[in-house]
Amino acid sequence: MRVIVTGVSAGIGGAICEQLANTHGNALSLVMCVRRSTEQVEALASACRLQGSAVMIVKADFSQPEAPAEVVGRAVEGFGSLDAIVSNAGIADPAPLESLELEAWDRMFSITCRASWLLAKAAFPHLRDSRGSFVAISSQSGSHPHRGTGAYSSAKAALTMLCRQLAIEWGQHGIRVNCVSPGMIRTPMTEAVYKDERILRAREAIVPLGTIGQPSDVARLVEILIDPTNRYVTGQNIAIDGGLSQTVLDRIPGLARKQ
Ligand SMILES: NC(=O)c1ccc[n+]([C@@H]2O[C@H](COP(=O)([O-])OP(=O)(O)OC[C@H]3O[C@@H](n4cnc5c(N)ncnc54)[C@H](O)[C@@H]3O)[C@@H](O)[C@H]2O)c1
Repeated sequence: MRVIVTGVSAGIGGAICEQLANTHGNALSLVMCVRRSTEQVEALASACRLQGSAVMIVKADFSQPEAPAEVVGRAVEGFGSLDAIVSNAGIADPAPLESLELEAWDRMFSITCRASWLLAKAAFPHLRDSRGSFVAISSQSGSHPHRGTGAYSSAKAALTMLCRQLAIEWGQHGIRVNCVSPGMIRTPMTEAVYKDERILRAREAIVPLGTIGQPSDVARLVEILIDPTNRYVTGQNIAIDGGLSQTVLDRIPGLARKQ
């Protein structure tokens, strides 16, 4: 299986690489796409190679429009073709909408949504040949507006719709396209918040499963989605949030409850 995973440093992208290498071993050819190569990235690549996987590290900045096609080109040059892309790279750039800068809006949409479309577009002939799969990591913020997140919620909503549209355009070619929407996951992006024990406990208390998610939880779902034996799931936006997204009506005060 030949796979590109973007946004691979630690967090969710790193866990996806580990999960794929642990599951597929020497049947995996992995392109780890990074903004910059670090010791952590090198260590992750070595761990995947120890499982027998072939690994290429490719640097790219997805705020640049040419970067996605370059990544796909390098992957195909190195591994011959492509079976799956996991578009995971993302940023958080909180700001109230009334003071959000134009540049910040454009940057968020470029990295979150435009890069995913350009990756998919460049990979199309290869995914058609392999009857492959595309998965994007969106967010619960793309389905539920999230105060103060700047362009994040809007860009994730656009990403979710991009995947749904790709799924119906490319179904005829046997390409499956799905989206994963994590809730609260403890990663470098969110670590500063969880270091505060009070916030951690307060956040755990609003999740029906009573805990914050781990990157490995998301990685397991992604592995299932891109597996070719999972041949009939496409166009879906799958929540992985411990049930958080189901609790909106539960917040209404004054309802009679037995518990
Ligand atoms: N952590 C959460 O609670 C959570 C919840 C919902 C969705 N997500 C999404 O999951 C994905 C992974 O996030 P994470 O929490 O693991 O955070 P992270 O910061 O560890 O990962 C984000 C990755 O994107 C890369 N990236 C950022 N800007 C880039 C650019 N211009 N070009 C190329 N790569 C770039 C970073 O280098 C990093 O590897 C993101 O898309 C994020 O929006 C995370």
